[in-house]
Amino acid sequence: MGRRVMLMEIFSLYIFFSFMFNGFFLGKSDLSTKEVNLHRRLSNEGLCSQLIQPSGYPCSEHITQTKDGYILGIQRVSSSNGAVQANSGPPILLQHGLFQGGDAWFLNSPEQSLGFILADLGFDVWVGNVRGTRWSHGHISLSEKDEEFWDWSWQELALNDLVEMINYVYSVTSSKMYYVGHSQGTIMALAALSQTDIVKKVEAVALLCPISYLGHISAQFVLRAVGTHLDQMILAMGVHQLNFRSEVGVRLVNSICEGHIDCNDLLTSLTGKNCCFNNSHVDFYLEFEPHPSSAKNLNHLFQMIRKGKFGMYDYGLWGNIKRYGLFQPPAFDISSIPTSLRIWMGYGGNDALADVTDLEQTVNELKSRPELLYLENYGHIDFILSVNANEDVYSHMIDFFRIPEEASSSQQSRNCGRVRIGCQVNEIYWTGSAIKAGPLHLGAPM
Ligand SMILES: *[C@@H]1O[C@H](CO)[C@@H](O)[C@H](O)[C@H]1NC(C)=O
Repeated sequence: MGRRVMLMEIFSLYIFFSFMFNGFFLGKSDLSTKEVNLHRRLSNEGLCSQLIQPSGYPCSEHITQTKDGYILGIQRVSSSNGAVQANSGPPILLQHGLFQGGDAWFLNSPEQSLGFILADLGFDVWVGNVRGTRWSHGHISLSEKDEEFWDWSWQELALNDLVEMINYVYSVTSSKMYYVGHSQGTIMALAALSQTDIVKKVEAVALLCPISYLGHISAQFVLRAVGTHLDQMILAMGVHQLNFRSEVGVRLVNSICEGHIDCNDLLTSLTGKNCCFNNSHVDFYLEFEPHPSSAKNLNHLFQMIRKGKFGMYDYGLWGNIKRYGLFQPPAFDISSIPTSLRIWMGYGGNDALADVTDLEQTVNELKSRPELLYLENYGHIDFILSVNANEDVYSHMIDFFRIPEEASSSQQSRNCGRVRIGCQVNEIYWTGSAIKAGPLHLGAPM
């Protein structure tokens, strides 16, 4: 098998993981010194100097610490044609998905990548990076080799990392911010917004491939991994860090591909067909992605698929009593997100991971009615890497951000003839030129 073909396969699998599944990229932490260098060696340089500044954009590195001791890197980016200081527009925080880092928003050309587009429009762009990724900076006392370093799931990413990043951006800018999350970045937002008071610091949120309920995932391979309790097996083996770049990970991917799965078609069979993915750019993507995550995070996601609940991590009966004082882990209550928060969601007809039935449940539980953009031909990864994402997705999202909060529904209705979204119509289905109703079945607003 050629090296390039193998890289494609690994990338396909990574995308699959980009929302779900499988423990085969396990990197035992004691193997980290033997990591396969697929591309550039990890260096101490940050995201600014490795990706953003070389494209001509002013960028500064920031650091903040979570309440449980993780040190997160955050980048601030402004327009390529402007002054060196930060843009004067409103702050906007971009939060990447599973097995990704803040680089995800800058991997295509400046005309195609959301991070660059927002900076050029004058937004004060802040780039979030969760613990464990290449752009975060470890822990005040734990090492990445410690099992305890990886003892977290998206629950901590939401309630600790995201809350900390929002507080940090707010403390620097003294301004309410916009938020854009993709995939895991959407669970983090929904969980944090329903549990904490960060909502006071957020102006509006845009969720790409929104995920909270996972009971209807249809991807066969995910279901197989869940059914065979792969996540629990990994943990039982003593593996706590999931790392695609480890030697073991690469070897196992290789063996899976030879045995059971047609890897050439993996991207399609796992995420659904991504309409607008640039295959010629894959080698470049792989210089930055994928990033590590924790086995416990995967385990938490699989629990949600098994139980169909949007709840906290399940420690088992005694563990739950000890942690939560309850037999079952508490659920996140989506209906507690205040109606004053404006929400926009973009989702795809070919996304095999963010299922429409699950999204329906999320939307019906929200007290407010979010604005929805449905793209029939979009898969899970198109929302960040499609070569047409600016026209198909971002332009609509930015229109939504620009609608002033005070705009009354009557005013928005008047605009319906001109703008494609933001009308009183609950859901718009955009297929390039036509607008029609999408596939969600929405209940009455509460
Ligand atoms: C796809 O990627 C290649 C290689 O980086 C690049 O030259 C080309 O312009 C990209 N295509 C599009 C449509 O952006």
